[in-house]
Amino acid sequence: METSRFEPLEPATVEPPGELSGAATLPDGTALLVRPIRPEDEPRLARFHAGLSDRSVYQRYFRPIPLAQRVRHTRLSRLCFADFRTEIPLVVVRGAGGPDEEILAVGRLHRDPGRPEAEFALVVADAWQRRGVGAVLLARLEEAARLAGCTRLLGTLLAENLPMQRLCHRRGFALHFGSGGEVTAELALAPGPRPA
Ligand SMILES: CC(C)(COP(=O)(O)OP(=O)(O)OC[C@H]1O[C@@H](n2cnc3c(N)ncnc32)[C@H](O)[C@@H]1OP(=O)(O)O)[C@@H](O)C(=O)NCCC(=O)NCCS
Repeated sequence: METSRFEPLEPATVEPPGELSGAATLPDGTALLVRPIRPEDEPRLARFHAGLSDRSVYQRYFRPIPLAQRVRHTRLSRLCFADFRTEIPLVVVRGAGGPDEEILAVGRLHRDPGRPEAEFALVVADAWQRRGVGAVLLARLEEAARLAGCTRLLGTLLAENLPMQRLCHRRGFALHFGSGGEVTAELALAPGPRPA
């Protein structure tokens, strides 16, 4: 049986595959790096959360979550120590490797080993929205899901979340409108690389 590159070794200590890291450039010329989240990202992740509006939090988590709860150490450290067999958390950073390295967006894939589909969610810092960061991150999440051997990528969005619906539509996702105020975005993943 063929095994995926994401089905190895020990839980929680699995190294993220190197091919998930890569440079990107926004239309305005800003240089970014997309990479897997790391344990030392915890303070950066806390700063990222402090810059999120209530609206962005609601659209990402479907409920209000107070900042104090979002930046609690137990929660952030769990998010920063990923088990890459079941989840692939990616961050988009500016100033990579420098003293002011800043997280601009966080995205996450979840998959049950052996299942053909992965689920994604992402959020871009409010100050960086509408500059192309979401498109860069979603393209990279698609690629990560493909590398993980998945053939379908799914996301759940609020029906009111038109920016995310538009982004998904532009990336080729089909949108399925449910009756409960949620929309499922679905993309079939073909083997091989897909243009960003
Ligand atoms: C939805 C979200 C991820 C988009 O990220 P972004 O970095 O602003 O998106 P981009 O700049 O890459 O824009 C990509 C496309 O999305 C659409 N879009 C993004 N923001 C939009 C807005 N406010 N209004 C209308 N369309 C918008 C546009 O089609 C845009 O392309 P275009 O302007 O060239 O036509 C971001 O607004 C966000 O983090 N929202 C809160 C969290 C969330 O909704 N997560 C989704 C649940 S999984």
